[in-house]
Amino acid sequence: MEIIIQRTAEAATNVAAQIIARLLREKPEAVLGLATGSTPLLLYRKLITMKLDWRKVTTFNLDEYIGLPPTHPQSYHSFMWKNLFQHVNITKKNVHIPDGLAKDIPKFCARYEKQIRAAGGIDLQVLGIGTEGHIGFNEPTSSLVSRTRIKTLALQTRKDNARFFGSEQQVPHHCITMGIGTIMEARQNLLLAFGKGKAHAIAEAVEGPVSSLNPASVLQMHSTVKVFLDAGAASLLKQKDYYHSVWDNKPAWQQF
Ligand code: PGA
Repeated sequence: MEIIIQRTAEAATNVAAQIIARLLREKPEAVLGLATGSTPLLLYRKLITMKLDWRKVTTFNLDEYIGLPPTHPQSYHSFMWKNLFQHVNITKKNVHIPDGLAKDIPKFCARYEKQIRAAGGIDLQVLGIGTEGHIGFNEPTSSLVSRTRIKTLALQTRKDNARFFGSEQQVPHHCITMGIGTIMEARQNLLLAFGKGKAHAIAEAVEGPVSSLNPASVLQMHSTVKVFLDAGAASLLKQKDYYHSVWDNKPAWQQF
C-alpha cells in the first residue's frame, strides 16, 4: 500500500486524477471501476476539467441500491450521469452500473461478473470507504472472497447515507455490490478518504489486522493500492511520518 497524505482533499484528489489521466492516455480502451458517494465528487469534477478522451473507456460501478429505478435522484445511475458521464464523451453502451430493479438478482450478478471478465478485467478501481470500513457496499463481516451479489446495508451505512435521502427510513435496505474478491482482481485500486469521520476506518484498514470486520483492510493483500488521504482522514495513522517521508523522497522515476 502506498499512503499519500495531502493537506486537503483537493490536493489528494489531484494526485489521484493524474494517475487516472495517465492511464486513459496510455490505454484509451481502459476499464475503470467507479465509486459513488461524496468522496469521488471532487475527483470526477477534476477529471471533467482534464478533457480526457472517454470514447473507448469501459466502466463498471461498484454498487446500486435495490428497488431504485435508474431515474431516481438517489440512484447511483443518476449520480454517475449527473456527476461524470454527461460531461465527458463516454459511449453509453460501455457504461455498466448494477441494475437495482433486476428481477433475478443472482442471475444479474453472475452476468455482471462475466461482463467484467469479457471486458478484460478492471484496470483501475476507484474506492471510497464507509465509516465502518466498507468498500463498495461490502459491509463488515462480508466474505473476503465474495463476488457481486445482494447485500443488506449495515445500520451505520443507512444512517450515514440518510443525508442524501432526507431520512434514514427512505434509505433502501438492500443493494447489489461488487464483491471483495471482485475488487481484489482489479489491477490497481485507488482508495480515497477525506475528513476526520473516516480516520478510524482508515487507521484500521491501513494499520490494523486484515479482518472482515473492516473489509477495506483486505487491500493490504493487494499488490497495487494507493490510498489518498487529507489530514483529517490520516489523523489516526501511527506511521504518518513514514508515509510523508515516502512522498517527500519519491524518486523521479516513480513520480505520477
Ligand atoms: P462517502 O461514502 O464518500 O459518501 O463518504 C463512501 C462509501 O460509503 O464508500
